[in-house]
Amino acid sequence: MNNKMVIANWKMQLGLKDSIQVFNEIKGGLSEKSKTQVIICPSFISLSEINKLNEGDGIDLGGQDVFWEERGAYTGEVSCSMLQEVGCKYVIIGHSDRRNYFKETNEIIHYKTRVSLGCGLIPIVCVGETYKERQEGRKEYVIVEQIVKALSGIDVRDGRIIVAYEPIWVIGSGQAIDPKEAEYMHSVIKKALIDIFSLSIVEKNFKIIYGGSINKDLISGFMEKQGIDGVLVGGASLKAQDFLAIIDEINSIK
Ligand code: PGA
Repeated sequence: MNNKMVIANWKMQLGLKDSIQVFNEIKGGLSEKSKTQVIICPSFISLSEINKLNEGDGIDLGGQDVFWEERGAYTGEVSCSMLQEVGCKYVIIGHSDRRNYFKETNEIIHYKTRVSLGCGLIPIVCVGETYKERQEGRKEYVIVEQIVKALSGIDVRDGRIIVAYEPIWVIGSGQAIDPKEAEYMHSVIKKALIDIFSLSIVEKNFKIIYGGSINKDLISGFMEKQGIDGVLVGGASLKAQDFLAIIDEINSIK
């Protein structure tokens, strides 16, 4: 049975009104028989309203970021418990937008991951290399360094962590990488995780997903590959029909 996960990252693309509309369309269009785990990450300002609409099973909610302190004078920030109060079970940490525009380092990502796990959220930790790093033959090094710095010393215990492999130059480009290449990079990530946590913990507590220009036409190529547990979707999650088409494709895989 397939139990793949699809995560929608709405970034700063949908305001409250549009978020409610797209959410309702996705919820209304999801087949009751869907085996795919669906997680939607709206903007902070939309979470509370969307949570009220999200009765029943089928869809889980996630934040797009979180701060590592629980409370205090941190203007503009949102804590883990605030996310949980509005229904979040997941949180995206270290997306390349955050690394790029907000200069988030692997150390910051480490704190955020540690604190999220500690309060019971499931972190979706993003890693990815730039085109230049890939051209220079450093893709494995960069990814392993990101994993080691973000996750070493973290106590997973009963928690779960999702690692999202997102090659930076393909995000939003309309051009995903070759699924075979994604499969290879996922194996690099899995080995790095096993070195830190052991095989049994990685198999029990981790999932590794791919992100970068996924759409309904490309999805099955990725889902057929070994070790790709799901996808993180940006652009193709902003219209309900595009996102539902991805879920339908996954459900049709035996
Ligand atoms: P994309 O975004 O699907 O638009 O490439 C993916 C992401 O940034 O998570």
